[in-house]
Amino acid sequence: MFQISRRRFLGGMIAAPVLSAIPFPSAESGTVQPSLARAAHSNGRFFGAAARIDQIDAEPALRAAMLRDCACLTPEIHLKWDSLEPAPGQHDFAPADGLADFAKANGLKLRGHTLLWEQSTPDWARRAIARDKDWSLIERHFGTVMPRYRSRIDEWDVVNEPIDSEHGRGGLRRNSFFRAFGPDYIRRALDEAHRHAPGALLMINDYGFDYDNPVEEDRRRLMLRLAERLKREGAPLGGIGVQAHLDLSKGPFKPRIVRDFLRDLAGLDLRIVITELDVKEQDLTAPIEVRDARVAAEVGAYVETALAEPAVKGIVTWGLSDRHSWLQDQVEQPSSLKGPARLNRGLPYDSKLEPKAMYWTLREALLT
Ligand code: G3I
Repeated sequence: MFQISRRRFLGGMIAAPVLSAIPFPSAESGTVQPSLARAAHSNGRFFGAAARIDQIDAEPALRAAMLRDCACLTPEIHLKWDSLEPAPGQHDFAPADGLADFAKANGLKLRGHTLLWEQSTPDWARRAIARDKDWSLIERHFGTVMPRYRSRIDEWDVVNEPIDSEHGRGGLRRNSFFRAFGPDYIRRALDEAHRHAPGALLMINDYGFDYDNPVEEDRRRLMLRLAERLKREGAPLGGIGVQAHLDLSKGPFKPRIVRDFLRDLAGLDLRIVITELDVKEQDLTAPIEVRDARVAAEVGAYVETALAEPAVKGIVTWGLSDRHSWLQDQVEQPSSLKGPARLNRGLPYDSKLEPKAMYWTLREALLT
């Protein structure tokens, strides 16, 4: 507890060195001030971020930050079904291939995100699944995508966001796949994925496990129940992606709750990756230093708790810079604020690609 409080203090108060002062992590430069990737690696973990090749190509500062701080990239949108196959049989692999080539050329790993997600299923596929209830569509999708990236991707989010404690049936979201194939669609998807990438780590990725409220308590219980059932049935489930979209309005963060949840998942012989870490702010009108200290404190407490669990193999943030964060569409941006102050500040770099308190706190937690 003392450590977290101390970190809260440090996260907010330390004068952040500017990015240019961080030595690039090469063999020559040593590790005096390691990057996030180096910090994680020193502890046997990996650090990565969600990325888009169009943004990397357009912005040299973002590209440099990705290369400096990431050992692994998650395609934020390029591998989703609606991006890959907007019309039946008409594939566009260019962005996904572009990011895969960028990763390969720079020695970065790539996470496979994601094969089945209601929100990223193209309308035509949703309609066809509802009409024909024909699994061969899923088989074709997996069979087209997974072999193409076999040598690049060894960890897939096979099913994304299947848990729904509020409107689901048996705790499962009533999505197109559930409606067409029943609750068994998750095991079938894992089996299908295993056929196309026998050596890959196959995961379920979901959100809403982080805070002490009845909904998230249910979600943790349902996730554990699902994982337990799948393991019992012998499904090739290798891990759980814990998204960790933190939210300052849901606090206070209680380490014990997350610690117990991760320990229970680990007890099922599952690997865990924190897959989409970021922080939604509560009060954008506070002074910037205060806002950054709050975000950093939340991240410090969360990551310290997560990394205390040996089954947690890596931390991925959902982007590196506030400039590109999906949260900009989720927060109310007060019109009284001008310029970048209106943006949510929930990622390691601000909108000008300067590292902020979250960066330093995250690095400290990764190093500890
Ligand atoms: O690229 C098109 C553009 O051509 C078009 O004009 C525009 C009009 O809306 O849409 C653009 O596509 C958008 C895409 O982001 C790129 O900006 C999609 O509409 C939009 O739905 C998509 O949002 C992504 C969302 O997943 C859905 O795929 C977000 O960037 C991405 O951050 C978000 O990520 C998800 C994770 O995969 C799963 N967990 C939650 C997380 C946040 O929602």
